[in-house]
Amino acid sequence: MSSTSRILSPEEANLERCARHLEAGELVGVPTETVYGLAGDASREDAVRKIFTVKGRPLIDPLIVHVPSLEAARKYAALNPAAEALAARFWPGPLTLVLPKKAIIPDIVTAGLPSVAIRCPAHPVFRALLERLDFPVAAPSANPFSYISPTTAAHVDLHLGHKIAATLDGGECQHGVESTIVDLRTPETPAILRYGPISPESISETLGSPVRLPAKTNQRSAQAAPGTLEKHYSPRTRVTLLEHGSAHDRIFELLSGNQTALILNRRPDRDHPTGAVYWLSEDGNLAEQAKHLYSLLHRLDAMDFKEIFIEAAVDEGLGRSINDRLKRAAAK
Ligand code: TXA
Ligand code: MG
Repeated sequence: MSSTSRILSPEEANLERCARHLEAGELVGVPTETVYGLAGDASREDAVRKIFTVKGRPLIDPLIVHVPSLEAARKYAALNPAAEALAARFWPGPLTLVLPKKAIIPDIVTAGLPSVAIRCPAHPVFRALLERLDFPVAAPSANPFSYISPTTAAHVDLHLGHKIAATLDGGECQHGVESTIVDLRTPETPAILRYGPISPESISETLGSPVRLPAKTNQRSAQAAPGTLEKHYSPRTRVTLLEHGSAHDRIFELLSGNQTALILNRRPDRDHPTGAVYWLSEDGNLAEQAKHLYSLLHRLDAMDFKEIFIEAAVDEGLGRSINDRLKRAAAK
């Protein structure tokens, strides 16, 4: 098969082909509004095992189960009133809920945990596929373990295309960062497990109660056992994080080594060397920065830079989700 024929446009016949691949226990790259997913039948242990193998992901890292509706979610997880409230407001969308799991979900999906992470995605192409299936879909981000998440079908195809049945093309992902994960196992003490497109404030507001925030990335890394350190979302090229607002005055200095690239939050006002200075948005818009981050890292990682400097986002709103990913990308 040629490399281009592995990417399928989202027409009826191709949705049907992908549904058949999944029914046969094979894997398909799928678009979501956050990042592309590596999809397999969540009710089949053999298909789920393939997901771990293809990603090179350790079996101790559980997967998110994707469903087309709230009704479907009820078949696989025990929903509580807090979950109902968040689902009513944010589904379909970039929100994953961790809830007590039902027995129908195989243990391999949840790495043996009694809870399951469940999400009803908004992307119309993925939804059209999910609606054709009578099983839920397990889908981690479709990147090799610890590499940058994919935001286009081409990213998926480049790294995993030779190992999967096909990738469904749904265009560039709208958000560009993974879903917000909320732990609702004990609904009285909701906790954000991962920052994402939906802010802790809007979760808290919907629930009418405070939510616990994730521990700071560096604290968590320091506590993690050796070998389980949270290096994640990383390009092969070395990444160094710069404080927000500290880069614009130092552009020439930072690039004096000649083999370095610089990624800014917004277009620089002043003169800069061409070919090595990039920006994630024109004017500092956070949604735009999130949307472009992974794809710019994919692009620069394919070039010959020795080091990539990235300016941190402002530490508020979606900027916290971006900075969470940047700290991991820069983790040594
Ligand atoms: O936006 C997204 O969530 C994307 C798209 C494809 O839906 N998926 C995604 O999956 O980011 P993945 O596998 O890259 O990240 C899933 C995260 C992991 O950090 C995992 O530890 C956590 O979800 N997770 C899954 N099941 C869990 C559980 N039962 N309890 C706590 N965390 C869980
Ligand atoms: Mg991932």
